[in-house]
Amino acid sequence: AFHIEDFKQELIDEIRAKVGEKQVVCGVSGGVDSTVLAVLLHEAGVNVKAIYVDQGLMRKNETAEVEANFKRMGVPIEVVDASERFLTALDGEGDPEKKRKIIGNLFIDVFWDAVGDAEMLAQGTLYPDVIESASNENSKASTIKTHHNRVDRILEMQKEGKVLEPLAELFKDEVRELGANMGIQQDILDRHPFPGPGLAVRCPGVVTKERLDIIRDCDHIFISELKESGWYQKTWQAYAGLIPVKTVGVKGDERSYEYATNLRAVISEDAMTADWVDLPTPLLRKVSSRILNEVSGINRVLYDISSKPPASIEWE
Ligand code: XMP
Repeated sequence: AFHIEDFKQELIDEIRAKVGEKQVVCGVSGGVDSTVLAVLLHEAGVNVKAIYVDQGLMRKNETAEVEANFKRMGVPIEVVDASERFLTALDGEGDPEKKRKIIGNLFIDVFWDAVGDAEMLAQGTLYPDVIESASNENSKASTIKTHHNRVDRILEMQKEGKVLEPLAELFKDEVRELGANMGIQQDILDRHPFPGPGLAVRCPGVVTKERLDIIRDCDHIFISELKESGWYQKTWQAYAGLIPVKTVGVKGDERSYEYATNLRAVISEDAMTADWVDLPTPLLRKVSSRILNEVSGINRVLYDISSKPPASIEWE
């Protein structure tokens, strides 16, 4: 059987032996894996710095919440606000693959600038990632992972024994268990996955600050209501995205001409296939009415009832 306490101690001993007095940096997103990684390094007592890149594509209040969580747990975090740079780089680009490339490449630049001359790098690679990057080079997620995990500098550091991957033998459930054992809040451990390119893949076509703000407001309402009703835990991933098509409606006693939002909630085992969730009608009704009342820029709410395949979970 898997004894988390013994395993944690083994990981900590290994980390200490490898790191010694050196400084270790790790990229964090606020997600489960990178958070557990950073807290584990901190608990091992090594000199760790977490780097969080805000590419301007995060959800409402997300950056502030991640920063506050790390501060509360006592883990040093450096927040790099690169939102202007990302939005400028994305300006006018509507092609999904080009958007991903722009974001992936800029992320690497910004991240490595922040790493500076740190002596060691830790990554939250899990056991399934190890298998996946060996067998499945074509999925969107693995393309991005290829970006992050295999840039030349990492290869070089790997050769020199300067890359730590302490979670590489663990499955997601075991990572959660480890996180809970170290006192990480349950709502962080239960967080839905969030894609590396952030809201850009939920904003089909051109990305603008205005569009992102609309998505943030819709998504915040949807997720809050899912949490409130207990459906957040019963879904694997959920979000509100933008459909950048303006349609005619009536708001107050005026004609409106605004965008639509799509609500998506899915269950999945491994993200390779997914099914949409049959959310209760009263919940959908409440979310819809809140969005239509509270979010300016939206006059239509749609529920995405597409399975994967043939649809994907994200819209790009
Ligand atoms: P799709 O849209 O391909 O998404 O059905 C499957 C899962 O992968 C996530 N996703 C990503 N995660 N970098 C990531 O780290 C990415 O570029 C990326 N693209 C999609 C998506 O949120 C879903 O959970």
